[in-house]
Amino acid sequence: FTPKLLAGRKVLITAGPTFEAIDPVRGITNLSSGRMGYAVARAARQAGAEVTLVSGPVGFCPPQGVDRINVKSALDMHAAVMAQAAGADVFIAVAAVADYRVANAAEHKLKKDTGGIPPIELVENPDILAEVAALKNGPFCVGFAAESRNLEEYAQTKRRKKKIPLIAGNLIQDGFGGEDNRLVLFDDAGSHPLAPAPKSVLARQLVEHIAHLTGKH
Ligand code: C5P
Repeated sequence: FTPKLLAGRKVLITAGPTFEAIDPVRGITNLSSGRMGYAVARAARQAGAEVTLVSGPVGFCPPQGVDRINVKSALDMHAAVMAQAAGADVFIAVAAVADYRVANAAEHKLKKDTGGIPPIELVENPDILAEVAALKNGPFCVGFAAESRNLEEYAQTKRRKKKIPLIAGNLIQDGFGGEDNRLVLFDDAGSHPLAPAPKSVLARQLVEHIAHLTGKH
């Protein structure tokens, strides 16, 4: 692994789940651990990049030398990313962003004894990656697709829909929440399956692929 593949480049990364509040103590979230995104942040930093990590709620410390911005909801993540995106050379969206948030989040804790089951109305969250990909002169955008089946078809469809040059697909049963993963990279040249490996190893391979596609190496 050549250590300085991304020397001097600004890399913005999202990681982890989001948390969509229902009331002050409850919410909707998902099983993303943040491990893959944190591994990508560490690998990009080790490759010499200046890394900003916008992180949903996870249990780890930021990798050494990485600037972390902590967020909770998809809207917080959207605001933090949009504030940084124009200055980034590469944007890697690893976070498992909730597609929907609660429209009528309660200011006070919901009580069981107030009669009836409270309805939870959902509204769509912005697609952070698609929005960054649509920026004029924006960063080189990389997405992740976590699927439970039809990986190639779904990942390629996502890549085209979001208009991004590279997407890393993985099956949820292969990696979500765990230490290891199995990734397939999809770009204009086709698909590049990577051997199953610890997330740290896959993150370095992804960084190498990004460095290759963005030239200079
Ligand atoms: O559309 P889907 O959620 O399956 O796409 C996954 C990719 O899009 C991931 O890279 C994820 O980080 C990104 N994404 C996003 N904002 C959303 C939803 C997904 O940036 N609201």
